[in-house]
Amino acid sequence: VTIASHQLRTPLTAIKGYSSMLLEGTYGKVPAYMKKPLRHIFQSANAMVHMISNYLTLSRIERKKIEYKFEESDLKEMVKSIFDEFKAVNATKMKKLDLELKIEKKEDYKAIVDAEKLREVFYNLVDNAMKYTYEGFIKIFLGKDDKTGNFVFKVEDSGIGIRADILKTLFQKFSQGEENGAGAVVGLGLGLYVAKEIVTAHKGKIWAESKGEGRGSTFYVEIPASSAVPKEDNSKELAE
Ligand SMILES: Nc1ncnc2c1ncn2[C@@H]1O[C@H](COP(=O)(O)OP(=O)(O)OP(=O)(O)O)[C@@H](O)[C@H]1O
Ligand SMILES: [Mg+2]
Repeated sequence: VTIASHQLRTPLTAIKGYSSMLLEGTYGKVPAYMKKPLRHIFQSANAMVHMISNYLTLSRIERKKIEYKFEESDLKEMVKSIFDEFKAVNATKMKKLDLELKIEKKEDYKAIVDAEKLREVFYNLVDNAMKYTYEGFIKIFLGKDDKTGNFVFKVEDSGIGIRADILKTLFQKFSQGEENGAGAVVGLGLGLYVAKEIVTAHKGKIWAESKGEGRGSTFYVEIPASSAVPKEDNSKELAE
């Protein structure tokens, strides 16, 4: 599966790259009527890259071959780069959403995590917010819980919302809302399952809240403070 997914990714990268260059006018001015189909090509290829990625992670989970590489990483940089990526995606949309990023001013967000996998978690949550919000806003937040010191990542949207009974099964494998609004939404129902698996491996928590259909959703991830990189203690140096 690993090799196959790499081979799938290469042509997709080309499709993404060329369609975005066409859209940007690298090959000359694109007539207005061609923008919509080009956007479709770009967005679909982009979606496919991440479906493959989730599918690959699922396959690793099932074969118990998922391995974590915990290393020091800056969650702030991670979240910022995801935000930038979605800003670019948003720019290719006909109906643009208000994307907002808020990072609480705390000294640092350095943590011992598997950065590549945690990025997929955050990515999946923002990806969902984009997919299930047809108008309005997406607010992304990174901060620390005052009491516990845990890292908190939050994505709030003004989208289609989630019914209370569905909220409970959301993080199961292949779980999908019964009717995804416009019906044009594609997905495998893996994003949240994979996200939960990865967050659990970080000894963290992930959950969702929604006031109900049509009333938006909020997804939360908490990564324990114990994964924070301890600050260098220079008091000793001073004493010497
Ligand atoms: N922000 C959201 N607003 C409304 N519904 C959501 C939101 N995020 C997830 N859901 C619901 O939860 C289901 C599961 O989400 P999940 O990310 O696991 O799968 P998916 O988005 O359908 O497919 P993919 O595997 O591509 O992520 C979705 O199908 C959708 O019904
Ligand atoms: Mg998803």
